[in-house]
Amino acid sequence: MSIDGSGSGLAGAAFSSKTRSTLCAFDVFYFSNMPTTDGSQEKTLAALGVTQPEQLTALFQEIRARFDAEIAAVHDEAAFKKFRDAWLGRKSGVLSGITDNWLKPATPELKRAVGAGLNELRAHADSQIEARRAAIESGADEFAVAKERVDLSLPGVVRAIGSRHLIRQVFQEIEDIFVSIGFSVVEGPEIETPYYNFEALNIPEFHPVRDDMDTFYVEAQSAGGAKTAPGSLLLRTHTSPVQIRTMEKRQPPVRVIVPGKVYRRDNPDATHSFMFHQIEGLAVDTDITFCDFTGTIEYFVKQYFGPGVKTRFRPSYFPFTEPSVEFDVSCIFCGGSGSGANGATCGKCKGAGWIELFGAGMVDPAVYGFVSYDAKKVSGFAFGMGMDRLAMLKYGIDDIQAFFQNDVRFLKQFP
Ligand code: DAH
Repeated sequence: MSIDGSGSGLAGAAFSSKTRSTLCAFDVFYFSNMPTTDGSQEKTLAALGVTQPEQLTALFQEIRARFDAEIAAVHDEAAFKKFRDAWLGRKSGVLSGITDNWLKPATPELKRAVGAGLNELRAHADSQIEARRAAIESGADEFAVAKERVDLSLPGVVRAIGSRHLIRQVFQEIEDIFVSIGFSVVEGPEIETPYYNFEALNIPEFHPVRDDMDTFYVEAQSAGGAKTAPGSLLLRTHTSPVQIRTMEKRQPPVRVIVPGKVYRRDNPDATHSFMFHQIEGLAVDTDITFCDFTGTIEYFVKQYFGPGVKTRFRPSYFPFTEPSVEFDVSCIFCGGSGSGANGATCGKCKGAGWIELFGAGMVDPAVYGFVSYDAKKVSGFAFGMGMDRLAMLKYGIDDIQAFFQNDVRFLKQFP
Protein backbone atom coordinates (compact mmCIF):
# COMPACT_ATOMS: atom_id res chain seq x y z
CA MET A 1 0.00 0.00 0.00
CA SER A 2 1.79 3.01 -1.10
CA ILE A 3 1.05 6.47 0.00
CA ASP A 4 3.46 8.18 -2.25
CA GLY A 5 2.54 6.14 -5.30
CA SER A 6 5.92 4.50 -5.52
CA GLY A 7 5.23 1.09 -4.03
CA SER A 8 2.78 -1.42 -5.40
CA GLY A 9 2.27 -3.24 -2.16
CA LEU A 10 2.85 -6.40 -4.08
CA ALA A 11 3.19 -9.52 -2.06
CA GLY A 12 6.80 -10.40 -1.83
CA ALA A 13 8.03 -6.88 -2.57
CA ALA A 14 11.06 -6.04 -0.52
CA PHE A 15 11.05 -3.10 1.90
CA SER A 16 13.82 -1.84 4.02
CA SER A 17 12.95 -1.89 7.74
CA LYS A 18 12.90 1.90 7.69
CA THR A 19 10.42 2.04 4.82
CA ARG A 20 8.37 -0.68 6.45
CA SER A 21 7.90 1.19 9.70
CA THR A 22 6.96 4.35 7.84
CA LEU A 23 4.38 2.43 5.90
CA CYS A 24 3.01 0.85 9.03
CA ALA A 25 2.38 4.26 10.48
CA PHE A 26 0.48 5.22 7.40
CA ASP A 27 -1.37 1.93 7.30
CA VAL A 28 -3.27 3.11 10.32
CA PHE A 29 -4.06 6.29 8.50
CA TYR A 30 -5.20 4.32 5.53
CA PHE A 31 -7.69 2.17 7.41
CA SER A 32 -9.20 4.98 9.36
CA ASN A 33 -9.76 7.21 6.36
CA MET A 34 -10.34 4.66 3.67
CA PRO A 35 -8.96 6.32 0.56
CA THR A 36 -10.47 4.45 -2.33
CA THR A 37 -7.32 3.76 -4.26
CA ASP A 38 -3.72 3.07 -3.51
CA GLY A 39 -2.78 3.92 -7.06
CA SER A 40 -1.35 0.61 -8.33
CA GLN A 41 -3.93 0.59 -11.12
CA GLU A 42 -2.64 3.94 -12.28
CA LYS A 43 0.65 2.45 -13.38
CA THR A 44 1.30 0.04 -16.20
CA LEU A 45 2.22 -3.55 -15.43
CA ALA A 46 5.66 -2.87 -16.82
CA ALA A 47 6.15 -0.04 -14.38
CA LEU A 48 5.00 -2.35 -11.58
CA GLY A 49 7.59 -4.90 -12.64
CA VAL A 50 5.03 -7.53 -13.65
CA THR A 51 6.20 -9.70 -16.47
CA GLN A 52 4.74 -13.13 -15.65
CA PRO A 53 1.01 -14.03 -15.47
CA GLU A 54 1.60 -15.63 -12.04
CA GLN A 55 2.52 -12.25 -10.59
CA LEU A 56 -0.96 -11.03 -11.49
CA THR A 57 -2.67 -13.32 -9.02
CA ALA A 58 -1.16 -11.54 -6.04
CA LEU A 59 -1.80 -8.19 -7.60
CA PHE A 60 -5.51 -8.90 -8.14
CA GLN A 61 -5.78 -10.50 -4.72
CA GLU A 62 -4.47 -7.40 -3.09
CA ILE A 63 -6.88 -5.14 -4.97
CA ARG A 64 -9.76 -7.42 -4.07
CA ALA A 65 -8.78 -7.39 -0.42
CA ARG A 66 -8.71 -3.63 -0.54
CA PHE A 67 -12.16 -3.59 -2.12
CA ASP A 68 -13.54 -5.91 0.57
CA ALA A 69 -12.07 -3.84 3.38
CA GLU A 70 -13.42 -0.61 2.01
CA ILE A 71 -16.93 -1.86 1.27
CA ALA A 72 -17.26 -3.22 4.78
CA ALA A 73 -16.98 0.36 6.04
CA VAL A 74 -19.78 1.67 3.81
CA HIS A 75 -22.99 2.12 5.82
CA ASP A 76 -24.88 5.03 4.38
CA GLU A 77 -25.94 6.38 1.06
CA ALA A 78 -23.35 9.16 0.81
CA ALA A 79 -20.46 6.80 1.58
CA PHE A 80 -21.93 4.27 -0.83
CA LYS A 81 -21.97 6.70 -3.76
CA LYS A 82 -18.44 7.83 -3.07
CA PHE A 83 -17.28 4.24 -2.85
CA ARG A 84 -19.09 3.16 -6.02
CA ASP A 85 -17.64 6.07 -8.02
CA ALA A 86 -14.15 5.37 -6.73
CA TRP A 87 -14.32 1.77 -7.93
CA LEU A 88 -16.69 1.77 -10.90
CA GLY A 89 -16.43 5.41 -12.08
CA ARG A 90 -15.83 5.57 -15.85
CA LYS A 91 -13.02 8.08 -15.76
CA SER A 92 -11.08 7.50 -12.61
CA GLY A 93 -12.56 4.37 -11.05
CA VAL A 94 -10.15 1.61 -10.03
CA LEU A 95 -11.60 -0.83 -12.58
CA SER A 96 -11.25 1.73 -15.40
CA GLY A 97 -7.66 2.28 -14.27
CA ILE A 98 -6.98 -1.45 -14.56
CA THR A 99 -8.56 -1.53 -18.01
CA ASP A 100 -6.61 1.47 -19.23
CA ASN A 101 -3.26 0.90 -17.56
CA TRP A 102 -2.99 -2.85 -17.23
CA LEU A 103 -5.23 -4.47 -19.85
CA LYS A 104 -4.92 -2.21 -22.86
CA PRO A 105 -1.11 -1.93 -22.93
CA ALA A 106 -0.57 -5.54 -21.73
CA THR A 107 1.88 -7.73 -23.55
CA PRO A 108 0.27 -10.65 -25.43
CA GLU A 109 1.54 -13.05 -22.71
CA LEU A 110 -0.22 -11.14 -19.96
CA LYS A 111 -3.37 -9.98 -21.74
CA ARG A 112 -5.44 -13.11 -21.17
CA ALA A 113 -4.57 -13.32 -17.50
CA VAL A 114 -5.26 -9.62 -16.97
CA GLY A 115 -8.62 -9.94 -18.78
CA ALA A 116 -9.56 -12.96 -16.67
CA GLY A 117 -8.48 -11.30 -13.42
CA LEU A 118 -10.32 -8.11 -14.32
CA ASN A 119 -13.52 -9.97 -15.21
CA GLU A 120 -13.41 -11.83 -11.97
CA LEU A 121 -12.79 -8.64 -10.01
CA ARG A 122 -15.58 -6.83 -11.85
CA ALA A 123 -18.05 -9.65 -11.20
CA HIS A 124 -17.10 -9.61 -7.52
CA ALA A 125 -17.33 -5.80 -7.34
CA ASP A 126 -20.70 -5.67 -9.15
CA SER A 127 -22.32 -8.28 -6.95
CA GLN A 128 -20.91 -6.84 -3.72
CA ILE A 129 -21.89 -3.30 -4.62
CA GLU A 130 -25.42 -4.39 -5.54
CA ALA A 131 -25.77 -6.30 -2.30
CA ARG A 132 -24.51 -3.34 -0.30
CA ARG A 133 -26.88 -0.98 -2.12
CA ALA A 134 -29.84 -3.19 -1.28
CA ALA A 135 -28.74 -3.46 2.34
CA ILE A 136 -28.38 0.27 2.74
CA GLU A 137 -31.72 0.99 1.07
CA SER A 138 -33.67 -1.51 3.11
CA GLY A 139 -31.90 -0.37 6.28
CA ALA A 140 -32.78 3.24 5.54
CA ASP A 141 -36.38 2.28 4.82
CA GLU A 142 -36.61 0.29 7.99
CA PHE A 143 -35.18 3.14 9.98
CA ALA A 144 -37.58 5.65 8.45
CA VAL A 145 -40.56 3.39 9.05
CA ALA A 146 -39.50 2.70 12.61
CA LYS A 147 -39.14 6.40 13.22
CA GLU A 148 -42.60 7.22 11.99
CA ARG A 149 -44.43 4.24 13.37
CA VAL A 150 -47.20 5.13 15.81
CA ASP A 151 -48.61 2.33 17.89
CA LEU A 152 -52.14 3.42 18.64
CA SER A 153 -52.74 0.43 20.84
CA LEU A 154 -50.20 1.58 23.43
CA PRO A 155 -51.74 2.99 26.61
CA GLY A 156 -51.25 6.73 27.11
CA VAL A 157 -48.66 8.10 29.47
CA VAL A 158 -50.29 8.61 32.86
CA ARG A 159 -48.71 11.55 34.55
CA ALA A 160 -48.90 11.47 38.32
CA ILE A 161 -50.36 14.79 39.36
CA GLY A 162 -50.17 15.58 43.02
CA SER A 163 -53.05 16.92 45.04
CA ARG A 164 -53.35 19.51 47.74
CA HIS A 165 -52.36 18.37 51.19
CA LEU A 166 -55.32 17.72 53.47
CA ILE A 167 -54.25 20.58 55.74
CA ARG A 168 -54.34 22.95 52.78
CA GLN A 169 -57.75 21.58 51.74
CA VAL A 170 -59.11 22.06 55.24
CA PHE A 171 -57.80 25.58 55.36
CA GLN A 172 -59.54 26.22 52.05
CA GLU A 173 -62.84 24.99 53.55
CA ILE A 174 -62.41 27.18 56.63
CA GLU A 175 -61.35 30.16 54.59
CA ASP A 176 -64.44 29.85 52.36
CA ILE A 177 -66.69 29.86 55.42
CA PHE A 178 -65.14 32.95 56.97
CA VAL A 179 -64.72 34.83 53.71
CA SER A 180 -68.44 34.31 53.06
CA ILE A 181 -69.22 36.30 56.24
CA GLY A 182 -66.83 39.16 55.56
CA PHE A 183 -63.46 38.03 56.89
CA SER A 184 -60.26 38.41 54.89
CA VAL A 185 -57.01 36.41 55.10
CA VAL A 186 -53.74 37.85 56.42
CA GLU A 187 -50.43 36.20 57.21
CA GLY A 188 -47.48 36.92 59.47
CA PRO A 189 -43.91 35.78 60.07
CA GLU A 190 -43.06 32.41 61.59
CA ILE A 191 -39.95 33.87 63.24
CA GLU A 192 -41.22 36.35 65.79
CA THR A 193 -39.98 38.62 68.52
CA PRO A 194 -41.05 37.98 72.12
CA TYR A 195 -42.83 41.33 71.96
CA TYR A 196 -45.38 40.18 69.37
CA ASN A 197 -45.52 36.59 70.54
CA PHE A 198 -45.96 37.47 74.24
CA GLU A 199 -45.75 41.02 75.56
CA ALA A 200 -48.18 42.76 73.24
CA LEU A 201 -50.61 39.92 73.89
CA ASN A 202 -50.58 40.85 77.54
CA ILE A 203 -48.13 38.09 78.51
CA PRO A 204 -45.30 39.89 80.38
CA GLU A 205 -41.89 38.34 80.80
CA PHE A 206 -42.43 36.28 83.94
CA HIS A 207 -46.08 35.42 83.36
CA PRO A 208 -46.59 31.73 84.22
CA VAL A 209 -48.44 31.10 80.95
CA ARG A 210 -45.11 31.38 79.16
CA ASP A 211 -44.07 28.10 80.75
CA ASP A 212 -46.49 26.23 78.50
CA MET A 213 -45.61 28.22 75.45
CA ASP A 214 -41.85 28.68 75.60
CA THR A 215 -40.50 27.57 72.36
CA PHE A 216 -37.52 27.38 70.08
CA TYR A 217 -35.44 30.50 70.36
CA VAL A 218 -33.40 31.13 67.27
CA GLU A 219 -30.28 33.05 66.51
CA ALA A 220 -30.08 34.93 63.24
CA GLN A 221 -26.93 36.13 61.59
CA SER A 222 -26.74 39.16 59.35
CA ALA A 223 -24.72 39.20 56.13
CA GLY A 224 -22.01 41.07 58.03
CA GLY A 225 -21.79 38.25 60.59
CA ALA A 226 -23.53 40.10 63.45
CA LYS A 227 -25.65 37.78 65.57
CA THR A 228 -28.99 38.60 67.15
CA ALA A 229 -29.05 38.82 70.93
CA PRO A 230 -29.94 35.54 72.69
CA GLY A 231 -33.69 35.28 73.27
CA SER A 232 -34.57 38.07 70.88
CA LEU A 233 -36.12 35.83 68.21
CA LEU A 234 -38.28 32.71 68.41
CA LEU A 235 -40.44 30.43 66.32
CA ARG A 236 -43.94 31.67 67.05
CA THR A 237 -45.93 29.51 69.45
CA HIS A 238 -49.27 30.60 68.06
CA THR A 239 -50.76 32.74 65.30
CA SER A 240 -51.98 35.32 67.84
CA PRO A 241 -49.05 37.74 67.24
CA VAL A 242 -50.60 38.47 63.85
CA GLN A 243 -53.53 40.03 65.75
CA ILE A 244 -51.11 42.69 66.96
CA ARG A 245 -49.40 43.10 63.60
CA THR A 246 -52.79 43.54 61.94
CA MET A 247 -54.12 46.06 64.44
CA GLU A 248 -50.87 48.05 64.16
CA LYS A 249 -51.50 48.45 60.46
CA ARG A 250 -55.29 48.75 60.25
CA GLN A 251 -57.95 50.76 61.97
CA PRO A 252 -61.29 49.17 62.96
CA PRO A 253 -63.35 47.58 61.56
CA VAL A 254 -60.99 44.59 61.39
CA ARG A 255 -62.18 41.12 60.45
CA VAL A 256 -59.36 38.74 59.61
CA ILE A 257 -58.36 35.09 59.79
CA VAL A 258 -54.71 34.08 59.95
CA PRO A 259 -53.59 30.63 58.84
CA GLY A 260 -50.07 29.40 59.52
CA LYS A 261 -47.52 27.12 61.07
CA VAL A 262 -46.73 27.36 64.78
CA TYR A 263 -44.04 25.70 66.90
CA ARG A 264 -43.88 24.31 70.42
CA ARG A 265 -41.44 22.27 72.43
CA ASP A 266 -43.75 19.27 72.33
CA ASN A 267 -42.58 15.70 71.92
CA PRO A 268 -44.31 14.05 68.99
CA ASP A 269 -47.14 11.63 69.68
CA ALA A 270 -50.56 10.96 68.18
CA THR A 271 -51.88 14.40 69.17
CA HIS A 272 -48.71 16.49 69.52
CA SER A 273 -46.16 17.76 67.06
CA PHE A 274 -43.43 20.37 67.43
CA MET A 275 -44.93 22.05 64.37
CA PHE A 276 -48.63 22.27 63.67
CA HIS A 277 -51.15 24.62 62.09
CA GLN A 278 -53.50 27.19 63.52
CA ILE A 279 -56.09 29.59 62.24
CA GLU A 280 -56.39 32.75 64.24
CA GLY A 281 -59.48 34.92 64.01
CA LEU A 282 -59.96 38.54 65.00
CA ALA A 283 -62.93 40.87 64.69
CA VAL A 284 -62.79 44.37 66.16
CA ASP A 285 -65.30 47.14 65.64
CA THR A 286 -67.14 49.78 67.61
CA ASP A 287 -70.07 47.64 68.72
CA ILE A 288 -69.11 43.97 68.72
CA THR A 289 -70.84 42.01 71.47
CA PHE A 290 -70.48 38.58 73.02
CA CYS A 291 -73.54 37.59 70.97
CA ASP A 292 -71.78 38.42 67.70
CA PHE A 293 -68.92 36.30 68.95
CA THR A 294 -70.86 33.14 69.82
CA GLY A 295 -73.09 33.53 66.76
CA THR A 296 -70.08 33.70 64.47
CA ILE A 297 -68.44 30.65 66.04
CA GLU A 298 -71.66 28.67 65.94
CA TYR A 299 -72.16 29.54 62.30
CA PHE A 300 -68.65 28.38 61.49
CA VAL A 301 -68.91 25.11 63.42
CA LYS A 302 -72.21 24.19 61.77
CA GLN A 303 -70.87 25.01 58.33
CA TYR A 304 -67.76 22.97 58.92
CA PHE A 305 -69.15 19.89 60.71
CA GLY A 306 -72.74 19.99 59.50
CA PRO A 307 -75.99 21.51 60.76
CA GLY A 308 -76.60 18.65 63.22
CA VAL A 309 -73.82 19.56 65.65
CA LYS A 310 -74.34 21.57 68.81
CA THR A 311 -71.85 23.96 70.37
CA ARG A 312 -71.19 25.05 73.90
CA PHE A 313 -68.61 27.21 75.59
CA ARG A 314 -66.98 26.95 78.95
CA PRO A 315 -65.09 29.60 80.89
CA SER A 316 -61.36 29.50 80.35
CA TYR A 317 -58.35 31.76 80.61
CA PHE A 318 -56.11 33.45 78.08
CA PRO A 319 -54.13 36.61 78.93
CA PHE A 320 -55.29 38.36 75.76
CA THR A 321 -59.04 37.71 76.06
CA GLU A 322 -61.53 38.68 78.78
CA PRO A 323 -63.75 36.81 79.22
CA SER A 324 -62.07 33.74 77.73
CA VAL A 325 -63.86 30.61 76.69
CA GLU A 326 -63.20 27.12 75.40
CA PHE A 327 -65.53 26.05 72.60
CA ASP A 328 -66.79 22.48 72.47
CA VAL A 329 -68.73 20.68 69.77
CA SER A 330 -71.11 17.82 70.35
CA CYS A 331 -69.18 14.61 69.62
CA ILE A 332 -69.30 14.02 65.90
CA PHE A 333 -68.58 10.31 66.35
CA CYS A 334 -71.38 9.38 68.76
CA GLY A 335 -73.73 12.24 67.92
CA GLY A 336 -73.29 13.65 71.43
CA SER A 337 -74.77 10.60 73.19
CA GLY A 338 -71.46 9.58 74.74
CA SER A 339 -71.96 5.94 73.78
CA GLY A 340 -70.72 4.20 70.68
CA ALA A 341 -71.86 1.05 68.87
CA ASN A 342 -73.53 -1.60 71.07
CA GLY A 343 -73.79 0.76 73.99
CA ALA A 344 -70.05 0.98 74.78
CA THR A 345 -68.58 4.29 75.85
CA CYS A 346 -67.61 6.43 72.86
CA GLY A 347 -63.84 6.22 72.57
CA LYS A 348 -63.51 9.65 71.01
CA CYS A 349 -65.27 11.79 73.61
CA LYS A 350 -64.73 9.26 76.40
CA GLY A 351 -68.45 9.29 77.10
CA ALA A 352 -68.66 13.06 77.58
CA GLY A 353 -70.65 13.67 74.40
CA TRP A 354 -68.55 16.79 73.81
CA ILE A 355 -65.24 17.39 72.12
CA GLU A 356 -63.04 20.35 72.96
CA LEU A 357 -62.49 22.45 69.84
CA PHE A 358 -60.55 25.65 70.49
CA GLY A 359 -59.96 28.68 72.66
CA ALA A 360 -61.49 32.09 72.12
CA GLY A 361 -62.81 35.15 73.89
CA MET A 362 -63.48 38.87 73.83
CA VAL A 363 -60.27 40.81 73.18
CA ASP A 364 -58.82 41.98 76.51
CA PRO A 365 -58.87 45.83 76.58
CA ALA A 366 -55.22 45.70 77.72
CA VAL A 367 -54.29 44.43 74.25
CA TYR A 368 -55.75 47.53 72.59
CA GLY A 369 -53.27 49.56 74.62
CA PHE A 370 -50.40 47.96 72.70
CA VAL A 371 -51.81 48.96 69.31
CA SER A 372 -53.17 52.39 70.22
CA TYR A 373 -56.82 51.46 69.71
CA ASP A 374 -59.17 53.29 72.06
CA ALA A 375 -60.35 50.56 74.42
CA LYS A 376 -63.34 52.70 75.40
CA LYS A 377 -64.60 52.85 71.81
CA VAL A 378 -63.84 49.44 70.34
CA SER A 379 -64.60 45.86 71.25
CA GLY A 380 -64.02 42.55 69.54
CA PHE A 381 -63.45 38.84 69.74
CA ALA A 382 -60.65 36.48 68.85
CA PHE A 383 -60.19 32.75 68.47
CA GLY A 384 -57.36 30.34 67.74
CA MET A 385 -58.12 26.95 66.27
CA GLY A 386 -55.82 24.00 65.65
CA MET A 387 -56.21 23.27 61.97
CA ASP A 388 -54.74 19.78 62.27
CA ARG A 389 -57.18 18.96 65.05
CA LEU A 390 -60.15 20.20 63.00
CA ALA A 391 -58.96 18.07 60.07
CA MET A 392 -58.46 14.99 62.27
CA LEU A 393 -61.95 15.30 63.73
CA LYS A 394 -63.71 15.80 60.42
CA TYR A 395 -61.80 13.16 58.45
CA GLY A 396 -61.40 10.57 61.22
CA ILE A 397 -57.60 10.67 61.40
CA ASP A 398 -56.26 9.48 64.71
CA ASP A 399 -52.57 10.35 64.41
CA ILE A 400 -51.41 13.91 63.74
CA GLN A 401 -48.06 12.52 62.53
CA ALA A 402 -49.81 11.25 59.38
CA PHE A 403 -49.92 14.84 58.15
CA PHE A 404 -46.18 15.22 58.21
CA GLN A 405 -44.91 11.83 57.11
CA ASN A 406 -45.67 12.38 53.44
CA ASP A 407 -46.79 8.79 52.97
CA VAL A 408 -48.39 8.64 49.54
CA ARG A 409 -50.84 5.96 50.74
CA PHE A 410 -52.23 8.51 53.19
CA LEU A 411 -52.09 11.51 50.88
CA LYS A 412 -53.84 9.62 48.07
CA GLN A 413 -56.93 9.22 50.22
CA PHE A 414 -57.55 12.94 49.96
CA PRO A 415 -57.26 13.70 46.24
N1 DAH B 1 -53.20 31.43 70.98
C1 DAH B 1 -53.88 30.42 71.74
C2 DAH B 1 -53.08 29.15 71.78
O1 DAH B 1 -52.31 28.94 70.87
C3 DAH B 1 -55.23 30.16 71.14
C4 DAH B 1 -56.17 31.28 71.30
C5 DAH B 1 -57.00 31.36 72.41
C6 DAH B 1 -56.18 32.28 70.35
C7 DAH B 1 -57.89 32.42 72.55
C8 DAH B 1 -57.07 33.36 70.50
C9 DAH B 1 -57.89 33.40 71.62
O2 DAH B 1 -57.12 34.36 69.60
O3 DAH B 1 -58.76 34.44 71.73
O4 DAH B 1 -53.26 28.35 72.64
